[in-house]
Amino acid sequence: MSFNRVNMILWLLWVWMVFGISASTRARPDMLVINFGDANSDTGGVLAGAGLPIGLPHGITFFHRGTGRFGDGRLILDFICEHLKLGYLSPYLESLAPNFTSGVNFAVAGAMILPQFVPFHLDIQVRQFLHFKNRSLQLLSLGSGEFINEDEFHKALYMIDVGQNDLLEALYASNLTYAPVAAQIPSFIAETKLAVQNLYQSGGRKFWVYSTGPQGCAPKELALHAHNDTDLDRIGCFRVHNDLAKLFNKGLRSMCKELRSELKDAAILYVDVYTIKYNLFAKASEYGFVEPFKACCGYGGPPNNYNVKATCGQPGYNMCNNVTSAIVWDGVHYTEAANRIVAAKILSMPSLEGFWST
Ligand SMILES: *[C@@H]1O[C@H](CO)[C@@H](O)[C@H](O)[C@H]1NC(C)=O
Ligand SMILES: *[C@@H]1O[C@H](CO)[C@@H](O)[C@H](O)[C@H]1NC(C)=O
Ligand SMILES: *[C@@H]1O[C@H](CO)[C@@H](O)[C@H](O)[C@H]1NC(C)=O
Ligand SMILES: *[C@@H]1O[C@H](CO)[C@@H](O)[C@H](O)[C@H]1NC(C)=O
Ligand SMILES: *[C@@H]1O[C@H](CO)[C@@H](O)[C@H](O)[C@H]1NC(C)=O
Repeated sequence: MSFNRVNMILWLLWVWMVFGISASTRARPDMLVINFGDANSDTGGVLAGAGLPIGLPHGITFFHRGTGRFGDGRLILDFICEHLKLGYLSPYLESLAPNFTSGVNFAVAGAMILPQFVPFHLDIQVRQFLHFKNRSLQLLSLGSGEFINEDEFHKALYMIDVGQNDLLEALYASNLTYAPVAAQIPSFIAETKLAVQNLYQSGGRKFWVYSTGPQGCAPKELALHAHNDTDLDRIGCFRVHNDLAKLFNKGLRSMCKELRSELKDAAILYVDVYTIKYNLFAKASEYGFVEPFKACCGYGGPPNNYNVKATCGQPGYNMCNNVTSAIVWDGVHYTEAANRIVAAKILSMPSLEGFWST
């Protein structure tokens, strides 16, 4: 045997010991998370996919660098991953050293349910998933270790959190009129239903469908659209935005009910983040928040500290002294302090006990 050949065999043996053994003994979590959505749960997708730089001050509280998340720190999804003892999810689109051992994230900021202005709408995210699954199983069958297997895809928790951009675009297009937006909601719900059915078809059995939040309370909306007192509700949020969000959520809730009777062996949870988020604004002081309708990071000062010409991170922006006392970070997206509370409330929903035991 030549020296080279001995070396080769030793090298192969080393590869087998390091990768083969670690692959077979690695501790994998019981349940991975596979997420679809928009900026509310984007952990770096729009950065990887569109090259949209989202640097500091985004990330300033927790990651201390821009990760592609819109916010000062962790998102609701990040807190849920922590609770499930998972690592933070890598975006599907991350080309350099992604880590899919805890699941995968298809969410991209700006994404909508129905295709319009952004490339990665819900149906595309589901197609990306089907490709991701095929490719993972194919690579596993070739003997690679670090990919999600069929059983893990089957047991994974599939989460969908999308819709606010569809509602906002429709609202802007109608000059904030209720009826034309309401008329489009059934198509948003039908498309979301199709996504769950497709994921079920591919083997998924556990689903969380997030309701959309109270966009009418967002500093950006209040700053952008002139209003009088009759346009606002008793706590100071736009009625039209929130009435439409509630109509959309009602549709999502009955969609979940339909799917439960259709897909008998699936667990489908409707996650009511609307109420949780609305209560942050309504009972701000109880939660330790001040000036609920003022963005922490932005420009313009009270009441909303929001200006499209100097949004958070753009030249001229300012930042509040104490970000843990703010609900909204940049006019649209929530602060880590708010997300932490929302995640804790989600994780203590009574309906969750039944969900885990199915
Ligand atoms: C991937 O993430 C898991 C969970 O957070 C971690 O244990 C593991 O070390 C990571 N792998 C790499 C190669 O960084
Ligand atoms: C995945 O594989 C299945 C079966 O091999 C095939 O029918 C399907 O077209 C593939 N999907 C993608 C997105 O590659
Ligand atoms: C939109 O509505 C506002 C009043 O809320 C009105 O001043 C404005 O002219 C409307 N714009 C269009 C394009 O209809
Ligand atoms: C408030 O503004 C709305 C349009 O945004 C208008 O229809 C309504 O008449 C206004 N109400 C008062 C009291 O000015
Ligand atoms: C920041 O705000 C939080 C929440 O209201 C409060 O608990 C904390 O004491 C504040 N910190 C400072 C330095 O003011």
